[in-house]
Amino acid sequence: MELSNQEVGFSMPRIGEKAPCFKAVTTQGEINFPEQYKGSWVILFSHPADFTPVCTSEFMTFATLEGQFAEANCKLVGLSVDGLYSHIAWLRTIKEKIEYRGMKDVEVKFPLIEDITMEVAKKYGMIQPGESNTKAVRAVFIIDPKGIIRTIIYYPLSLGRNFDELYRALIALKTADEFGIATPADWRPGDDVIISPAGSCGTAKDRMDGKEEGLECKDWFFCTKKIAKDVVLSKVLKKK
Ligand code: BEZ
Repeated sequence: MELSNQEVGFSMPRIGEKAPCFKAVTTQGEINFPEQYKGSWVILFSHPADFTPVCTSEFMTFATLEGQFAEANCKLVGLSVDGLYSHIAWLRTIKEKIEYRGMKDVEVKFPLIEDITMEVAKKYGMIQPGESNTKAVRAVFIIDPKGIIRTIIYYPLSLGRNFDELYRALIALKTADEFGIATPADWRPGDDVIISPAGSCGTAKDRMDGKEEGLECKDWFFCTKKIAKDVVLSKVLKKK
């Protein structure tokens, strides 16, 4: 009889749920997650294995962008099912030897979790047996300052992540929270945002009659408004 994911201890956290708690050993000492990250956004991400090329390109990119994420009050935490000494050796190799797309001498200062037992990887649905039984897939969890999972993105082993998209998603989530709006396809700061659909026939009519100032309505259910780029950035990039 084939066992279900629950029976073998795999779980898949969902958007809107509390991030599962764990304590772990990392390259920056022990962490208590998500407790010690309360008040900050966090990107918790997994990679398949140390000393592999796609993962190396990703770590160099994340480490180079760490300051940009910090300006948006977002911390980074990595994980693979390798051990601590492998992590340390890999990060030393990256700093000392690897030059890639103009990045060199790159120091990874954010914590990298050792998870040989796969305890954390299983809690976060990072082990996907159809892809690999022994390696985590490239999972990304964007977690808000209250410890709630707000976005989940999974990539397979062969596909390196798009870091512009991870940053764009973080800024879009923060913008939605700050301004009570939604963001349309491919939104970037400065683009028009979407306001909640009309909740009554009266509001629908008012909007179509142009009675709500500052709105542009394609139809009663699809209205946008402008928020200037500097207004967005001054809210979402402030430290808090
Ligand atoms: C990589 O990071 O290069 C990689 C890791 C596991 C499987 C395939 C590629």
